[in-house]
Amino acid sequence: MKDLTAVKDFSYSGEKIFAAAKDFLPINGTDYVELYVGNAKQSAHYYKTAFGFQSLAYAGLETGMRDKTSYVLVQNKIRLVLTTSFDPDSEISNHVRKHGDGVKFISLWVDDARKAYEETIKRGAKSYLEPVEELDKDGYIVKAGIHTYGETIHLFIERKNYNGVFMPGYVKWESEYNPTDIGFKYVDHMVGNVELGNMNKWAKFYEEVMGFANLVTFDDKDISTEYTALMSKVMTNGNGRIKFPINEPAKGLKKSQIEEYLDFYRGAGCQHIAIATNDIVHSIAEMRKRGVEFLHVPGTYYDTVADRVGIIDEDLKILKRLGIMVDRDEEGYLLQIFTKPVEDRPTLFFEIIQRKGAKSFGKGNFQALFESIEEEQRKRGTL
Ligand code: FE2
Repeated sequence: MKDLTAVKDFSYSGEKIFAAAKDFLPINGTDYVELYVGNAKQSAHYYKTAFGFQSLAYAGLETGMRDKTSYVLVQNKIRLVLTTSFDPDSEISNHVRKHGDGVKFISLWVDDARKAYEETIKRGAKSYLEPVEELDKDGYIVKAGIHTYGETIHLFIERKNYNGVFMPGYVKWESEYNPTDIGFKYVDHMVGNVELGNMNKWAKFYEEVMGFANLVTFDDKDISTEYTALMSKVMTNGNGRIKFPINEPAKGLKKSQIEEYLDFYRGAGCQHIAIATNDIVHSIAEMRKRGVEFLHVPGTYYDTVADRVGIIDEDLKILKRLGIMVDRDEEGYLLQIFTKPVEDRPTLFFEIIQRKGAKSFGKGNFQALFESIEEEQRKRGTL
């Protein structure tokens, strides 16, 4: 098979980055994100109520699924699957026992799942699931899977011959409880936390096995406070639709947020899911009203933000009230905010981001963000 090199001209914070991504693994986008959780019914209620997800599909006892139940939620291009097992010895239950609620599958939408599997296995991926066809009256899908960091899996989902609601085995989920959508559009990026010394290993995995390119690297000079630090490499596929930053802890005086995550998650895993919106003021006002907790941004942040980012369309007073941060790069600016962890362990959280030209990740906010996370770590006694 011929490898064509797609040279992408990404610019990033004033630097031109030529990302040499290979296209042996064409990806259309994120297909779905599946979390293994302790109580899928209650999690689904939370993500509907607080995040504005809509009921899409369901599989469980009533549909002939004897060992687990899954709720599929949707908001524009984002599909979130929440799964709980009935069997205490299953892979799912073991995952929940060890990690708590967390991301199991970061599923990628491809046109040819068999080829995606072959190409990545050939380059050294560890197999999770050999290509398999699943069929029902609405057609068939092909899925296959490979391991990534920790116990996280990339599934390749081919659905061009399927017209059903989600996948074979699922029925449409009709619910009388339908809180309104809050404007989430698509998954912007998903971040993995890996153990000290493993960032380069996983960056290399995305480069060599998946054909991704390194879009940008942050070291401890970019992301550190007096106490803690981290390093990060952002990996992207050829069309830029999939972006996976990989973090590892860096040396600081105290325990970094990455080490805290690794301790509580009991290993590497997905740290945050960044979701894009076209109206962050609306999305965050809704989320706050619906009870979502966000990291606290110090009021003084807003005293200097205008000097840093210049003129923006939004009213700074409103951004301050909602705790939304702003950053600018060469191509425009972005607005972003981070939730507190969405489960009891300080592990998975969400970022909500609105891009107004900027393609970067909010480097100018790292300092304020880090200090805010440390404030939370201090309360938890884990700093
Ligand atoms: Fe992020």
